[in-house]
Amino acid sequence: MQHRNVLVIGGAGFVGRYIVNELVGRGCRVLVPSRRRDRARHLIMLPTCDVVEASVHDDATLDRLVAGQDAVINVVGILHGAEAQFEQAHVALTRRVLAACARARVRRYLHMSALGADANGPSMYQRSKGRAEQAVRESTLAWTIFQPSVIFGAEDSFLNMFARLAAIAPVLPIGGAEARFQPVWVEDVARAFVNSLDNEATVGRAYELCGPKVYTLRELVQFAAEAAGHRRPVIALPDGIARLQARLMQLAPGEPLLSPDNLDSMKRDNIASRQPYVPAPELGITATPMEPEASLYLAGLHPRTRFGGFRARAGR
Ligand SMILES: NC(=O)c1ccc[n+]([C@@H]2O[C@H](COP(=O)([O-])OP(=O)(O)OC[C@H]3O[C@@H](n4cnc5c(N)ncnc54)[C@H](OP(=O)(O)O)[C@@H]3O)[C@@H](O)[C@H]2O)c1
Repeated sequence: MQHRNVLVIGGAGFVGRYIVNELVGRGCRVLVPSRRRDRARHLIMLPTCDVVEASVHDDATLDRLVAGQDAVINVVGILHGAEAQFEQAHVALTRRVLAACARARVRRYLHMSALGADANGPSMYQRSKGRAEQAVRESTLAWTIFQPSVIFGAEDSFLNMFARLAAIAPVLPIGGAEARFQPVWVEDVARAFVNSLDNEATVGRAYELCGPKVYTLRELVQFAAEAAGHRRPVIALPDGIARLQARLMQLAPGEPLLSPDNLDSMKRDNIASRQPYVPAPELGITATPMEPEASLYLAGLHPRTRFGGFRARAGR
């Protein structure tokens, strides 16, 4: 690899860990900052990965992290929160990272956005992702932006969440049941990032990342429940009730299953702009179908799943 030293901000999360694994597998030395180093312990065993506890919202810290890197990958993101939290995690942090790269003369920058990112979009999530993209597009760095639909993989918090819910609930009442998604496999996402790193053809471009098939949310919930061994009726809630349910969920401790902002995001389909979706050839990936891979981990047959289950039970 031409870019051998890579800083992966957000590298301890679900998607980040796959990117880090892929980088390490290709001989890169990877630095991962995390607010809580213990949450990144799955990375500590990797031979050429260093995990440091750090706040990336501090310019001096960012300068230290970025110094000596050949490339920076920013995968930070939140799905729930107030306007100010979206602004901080997506927009302000992106600007800080871009500025730190410019100061350190790190040219290559890969940015995790999301399908539907739009400064005028219906949800805080999409608007903040859209504003972050604008900052990236205006920068003078050699940037590439990735816009995935919902991402599935052994540790995902989407299909796994519905599978866990199906284990305890006799019926599954959901809002946004007819919203459409095109789930993409986390390993395809990671490979797209790492394949693009040294490929100049990807500079200055934004890539949608999707799987081969479009599903409604109702179909995804049904699939997750059945794959986990719990056939359950899915009940589509009318918008008003779904909003009430989402607001009540926000009052419960921990991450809400579905927030009002998530419902706002679902006002727009989360699918590729051109169907059938074919990944851009320069990304070097094929779009892996969801069912065969996800069935394994939802049924508890995937080796990684057991650890995900332990973590979920421990509330981590
Ligand atoms: N998962 C999906 O289906 C999906 C779909 C489309 C786009 N995306 C995007 O992909 C990215 C990764 O998603 P994920 O599912 O891997 O999320 P995740 O598991 O929650 O990981 C998010 C990472 O972001 C970091 N982070 C979160 N809030 C932060 C903050 N305020 N300040 C600094 N760091 C913060 C966390 O760092 P710590 O280690 O410090 O906790 C964590 O490593 C996000 O940008 C998300 O929007 C995800």
